[in-house]
Amino acid sequence: MTTEPHLFVIFGATGDLNRRKLLPALYEITQQENAPDFAILGTSRSKLSDKDFDKLVRESLVEFAGVSKKDADHWLEGKLHYQSLTQENDPYEELVKRVHALEKEHKLKGNTVYYLSLPPQVFPKVIEGLGKSGANDGDGWTRLVVEKPFGQDLASAKTLNDLVHSHFKEDQVYRIDHYLGKETVQNMLAFRFANSLFEPLWNRDRIDRVEITVAESLGVEERAGYYDKSGALRDMIQNHLTQLLTVIGMDVPAGFNANAIRAEKLKVLKAIRPLQDEDIIYAQYAEGETNGKKVKGYLKEDGVDTKSKTPTYVAARLHIDNWRWQGVPFYLRTGKRLESKLTEIAIVFHCAPISLFEGGADGDPATGNGVPQDVLRINVAPEQGVEMLFNIKKPGQGMILQRQRLAFDYDEVFGKLPDAYTALLFDVMEGDRTLFVGADEVEASWEIYDPVLNREHEMHTYPSGSWGPTKAREFIEDWETGGE
Ligand code: BG6
Repeated sequence: MTTEPHLFVIFGATGDLNRRKLLPALYEITQQENAPDFAILGTSRSKLSDKDFDKLVRESLVEFAGVSKKDADHWLEGKLHYQSLTQENDPYEELVKRVHALEKEHKLKGNTVYYLSLPPQVFPKVIEGLGKSGANDGDGWTRLVVEKPFGQDLASAKTLNDLVHSHFKEDQVYRIDHYLGKETVQNMLAFRFANSLFEPLWNRDRIDRVEITVAESLGVEERAGYYDKSGALRDMIQNHLTQLLTVIGMDVPAGFNANAIRAEKLKVLKAIRPLQDEDIIYAQYAEGETNGKKVKGYLKEDGVDTKSKTPTYVAARLHIDNWRWQGVPFYLRTGKRLESKLTEIAIVFHCAPISLFEGGADGDPATGNGVPQDVLRINVAPEQGVEMLFNIKKPGQGMILQRQRLAFDYDEVFGKLPDAYTALLFDVMEGDRTLFVGADEVEASWEIYDPVLNREHEMHTYPSGSWGPTKAREFIEDWETGGE
C-alpha cells in the first residue's frame, strides 16, 4: 500500500490529545523513509491565526515529542494552517471550502483525512456538519477518524453509527482504539498466526483461563468532568480490554487483511455471553499512597460528585460460548490508582492431569498438587514482550520444583518502540483499516455490557496504591497478572 498526498484536518487542534499524541505521531511519520506528503489544517472553536497555530504545533513538538527547537521550526514549513469554527454562518461550509482550496494550493489531489479529536458530545454535530457541507465531494478520497468513546451504551452507539452512515460509507470510517496500535498488541497477531507452535494449544483443551489486566497508578487527574460520567467499564473495559480479548480469542483469519481479521474478531464478540451481575465487581479508590505520596480518595477529587457511583476499578468475568473457548473464563480487570502502571495478558494453562510432584502447599489434586500452572504472559506495559512461566527442578537434593521464565523483551532487542498513534495515523494515511474498530464490532461490544450498565450495584473500595479490592480474590485467589 502507498500513501497519497492529502490534507490532514484535525478537529480539537488546540486540545491535549492533539498536542501530546497526534502531532508527535505525525512528526514521527515524516521522519520515516518514503514519508507521505501531507499538509495540516487545524480547527477548533478558539480564534487563532495560522501563525498562532504554527507556534502551537512547534511548541508541542518540542514539549511532547522531544524534537529540537531547530527541527520543530522547520517541520512542514508552509503546510500548517488553521481555521476557527466560530463563524456565524455555516462554519462547516466555510471549513470544507478552505479544505478544497488548500488541497489545490498544495496539490493534494482532493484527498482528506478528518480527525475528530473531540469530546464525544460534539461528534454528531461535526459529523453532520461535514456530511452536509460536501466533505465527501472532493476529487479524491475522504476518511473520517473518530476517537473513543464511541457511544455511552448500545443505543447511543447505534444512533452514532446511523448518523455516521447517513453521511459516510463504513469503509471511510476509522474508529480509534489506541490499544490496537500498540506494537505488543499487533505482535499478538504475529505470535499467534506466524508460529505453528501455539495454535494447537490455543483452546479449552489446554487453557484454563485468560487474564487481562490494565493497571494504572494515575488517578482521575484533570479529567473528572469526563471520567465521572464514564468510569472504568465504559472508559477501558468495553473498548481497550475487550479489544485485547478479541485478539486473543479470535480464530485464524482467512487472510491478513482488514475484512478477514475484523470478521473473526466480530465472531468472538458475538459469542460472548452478555454480562450478568455475578460476573462483575466494581470499586472506587479510597485515599492511600502512590509513589510515596499521600493521595485523596476518588470521592474527594476535584470535579467528582461526592456521592458518585462511578467505578474507578472493574473486574469482569466473561464467557465465550463457542467451541474453542467454552468453559474458559476470561477475566478482565482495570483500575486507576493501583500500585503501578502495568498491562499484561496471561494465558494460564491447565495443570498436568496427574501430578507426580509435590509442588506448593495446598496439595489439591485438582490443581496438580499445587504445582504452579504454566503461563504464557504477554507484557504490554511497562515491559514489552512475551514470557513463558514454567516449572523446573531446583538444583540439589530431592525433586523440588520452581517456576522459571523464558522471556523475549522488545526493549532489549529493538530499543524504544513507536507510539501506538504513529502506527494508527500511518494506517489511516495508507487506507488500512485492519487496526480500527468496525461499526458492528463496536455494537457487539456494547451488547456484552449493556445488561449491567445502568443497574444498581455494590461499590467496593480499595486503598490507592494497592492492587484493588480484596473482593477481586473471589474471582481468582492469585492472579497471574499484576502484583498482589
Ligand atoms: C484512555 C483512557 O483511553 O486510555 C484513560 O481514557 C486511560 O483513562 C488511557 O488512562 C490508558 O492508556 P495507556 O495507553 O496509557 O494504557
